Amino acid sequence: MVMNLYLDSNPPIGIQSECLVIGVTEGGPLSASAKAADEASGGAISRMLESGDIQTGLGKTNFLHSLPGLTAQRVLAIGFGKQEKLELARFDRGCLAGGKALRDHPLTSCHVCVHELEFGEVEIARRLKQAALAMHRANYLYTATKDLKDGSPAPMKTASFQGGDALQSAINQAEAFAIGFEKAKTLGDLPPNICTPAYLARDAESIAGQYENVALEILEEEDMSGLGMNALLGVSRGSANSAKLIVLKYFGADKDRQPIVLVGKGVTFDSGGLSLKSGENMMQMKYDMCGAAGMLGAFVACAKLQMSVNVICIIAAVENMPDGDAYRPGDVITSMSGKTIEVLNTDAEGRLALCDALTYSQKFNPDVIIDAATLTGACVVALGHHASGLISNDDELANDLVAAGNSIVDRAWRLPLWEEYQTQLDTPFADMKNVGGMPAGVLTAGCFLSRFVEDQRWAHLDVAGSAWKWSSEDGASGRPVGLLAQYLLDRASQG
Ligand code: BES
Ligand code: MN
Ligand code: ZN
Repeated sequence: MVMNLYLDSNPPIGIQSECLVIGVTEGGPLSASAKAADEASGGAISRMLESGDIQTGLGKTNFLHSLPGLTAQRVLAIGFGKQEKLELARFDRGCLAGGKALRDHPLTSCHVCVHELEFGEVEIARRLKQAALAMHRANYLYTATKDLKDGSPAPMKTASFQGGDALQSAINQAEAFAIGFEKAKTLGDLPPNICTPAYLARDAESIAGQYENVALEILEEEDMSGLGMNALLGVSRGSANSAKLIVLKYFGADKDRQPIVLVGKGVTFDSGGLSLKSGENMMQMKYDMCGAAGMLGAFVACAKLQMSVNVICIIAAVENMPDGDAYRPGDVITSMSGKTIEVLNTDAEGRLALCDALTYSQKFNPDVIIDAATLTGACVVALGHHASGLISNDDELANDLVAAGNSIVDRAWRLPLWEEYQTQLDTPFADMKNVGGMPAGVLTAGCFLSRFVEDQRWAHLDVAGSAWKWSSEDGASGRPVGLLAQYLLDRASQG
């Protein structure tokens, strides 16, 4: 449900939307709009704050009905906790909670003033961008295979934000990022019988159709076979749905500027193959294309903003299934790079699909290569759902990605790529095996990938924990669209 975002600098007490949204903190002053609403209503808001009827705890939401002196029938007060503890990540959490409360109400329009809250050194344009993005993200509701019921919940159709022209570019950025998140969430949540490799290819086609400076190339299995992509094709062998290598190209800078290459793991369903997952673990594996979804989302945000960078987005779209022709534990395959791989576990398929995509990506003479993948359960154990795991062979790239993630509250945490870990991939039967054993599973997966980008500036994002969460409320998060879109924007502004 794409929500319309725009600015409105008229006095908030006279707005035409159904709900005025203000932020309140414990111990902080009322923001300008909250103060105006308080005065118009004869002090109703400050009295309710004092009595505790408006809660100020972080993420608390209170709808106030029919305040006198306001055109809006409702005010939503979002609590942001203690004023002195407020910073961007807490601000984001408050906005997400407020956005969910709005989505779950039968309202369709609101006017938001929460970015008037001041904290730290964070300037108003940043606060506005974060607020608009968070509220848009929270407004998402899955409808692809389930109709909206009459009444509640009803996603917002429009949200205006208090402010004038000076904030326009912040709104534009929030909108583009939000469309990217929406894309990633929608693709992530789709069931695996709909979201197949062919479906991802069609989605890329529709993206390419929307922008003049976007081109698309799709490699079919026979093309990949010609290139020697036997690792990727090995994963696909047991599946009735053919693999696709999807290549989207965006030119926003001089043609001779080296592109930023984004590579996404698009395993549309991961059964584990012959190393079959348990039922409990398998039912979540429609989300195994969330790396691809995140890359497509970031790509869309980039094209929407027409950023001055060149970006190549490569999606390894493939399904991992068992059948009579499936690849076996013990098989040795020769990857496109020429390196041989002993497949000891067909469930470590992501790295196999990615290694050929990474080799292929080098034909574009990349400035940097970044991949995103729901690669290991070990990453979820290490970092939970709050941070993406980051592994890189380049300090500057790693630092830039961490900084971009921090600044948009889509955080990544760097993990080591020490050569000591590489020995866990040793085998007498091939250049490497595809599993490194139990210790440091997230790192040995990164080590595996690093062998296919030896002369490149490269970073890997393990988004197994950050891109989705298995619960009725959550589903796909859309991450790491924020981190990547912000990184691309930062790169574009560096010229
Ligand atoms: N797609 C999974 C990783 C995964 C697991 C993501 C749980 C999200 C939640 C990946 O293909 C996989 O199966 N990895 C194995 C690797 C192992 C066999 C070395 C894993 O993590 O168990
Ligand atoms: Mn797997
Ligand atoms: Zn997988």
